[in-house]
Amino acid sequence: MNLIISGTNRERSNSLKIAQYYQQELERKGESWGILSLTDLPPEINSTDLYGKRSQLFEPIQAAVSDAQKFIFIIPEYNGSFPGILKVFIDACAFPASFHHKKAALVGLSSGKYGNIRGVDHFTGVCNYLRMHVLPLKIHLAKIQDELSTDGQLKEELTSNFVHEQIEEIIRF
Ligand SMILES: Cc1cc2nc3c(=O)[nH]c(=O)nc-3n(C[C@H](O)[C@H](O)[C@H](O)COP(=O)(O)O)c2cc1C
Repeated sequence: MNLIISGTNRERSNSLKIAQYYQQELERKGESWGILSLTDLPPEINSTDLYGKRSQLFEPIQAAVSDAQKFIFIIPEYNGSFPGILKVFIDACAFPASFHHKKAALVGLSSGKYGNIRGVDHFTGVCNYLRMHVLPLKIHLAKIQDELSTDGQLKEELTSNFVHEQIEEIIRF
């Protein structure tokens, strides 16, 4: 099953709400995608799953990553880039098979006004190193607190139109 990665382990994150929104909209178009939230990573990942180590907690996560052929990364802006935990996750996954020649679509979000343009660019570099094919249409959700309704929907029509355009491209990708 293809995977939407919610790129933070922050509890009650907007990234997870956006991941759920993408999953819901993909479902409406007949596509069944899983969500991997980085809140589900092993709490001691730094000591249990880096540099050749593998914990039982990470095994189902690795299996889901290995199975997926396409990924949507939801990437919040933390200090002008993507979150460190997202890089830890990538570093913990088996290399190179986890992501090699697979496909990625990228979505940035922030409470500020740039929607993580820089962090999505940084993460594009990581994807390219991993030899992933990155969908050229990237989405940047700025001022995310103004975009999301209390029930997790996108309030602005212009924004949801862009997101739907990207989803159509992800399906065809
Ligand atoms: C550690 C940290 C650093 C952040 N740095 C920025 C930043 O550089 N620019 C910005 O616009 N928002 C920043 N934010 C706010 C996030 O963009 C905001 O929390 C947003 O909701 C997306 O992240 P979330 O998925 O954690 O909710 C930061 C948040 C955290 C927790």
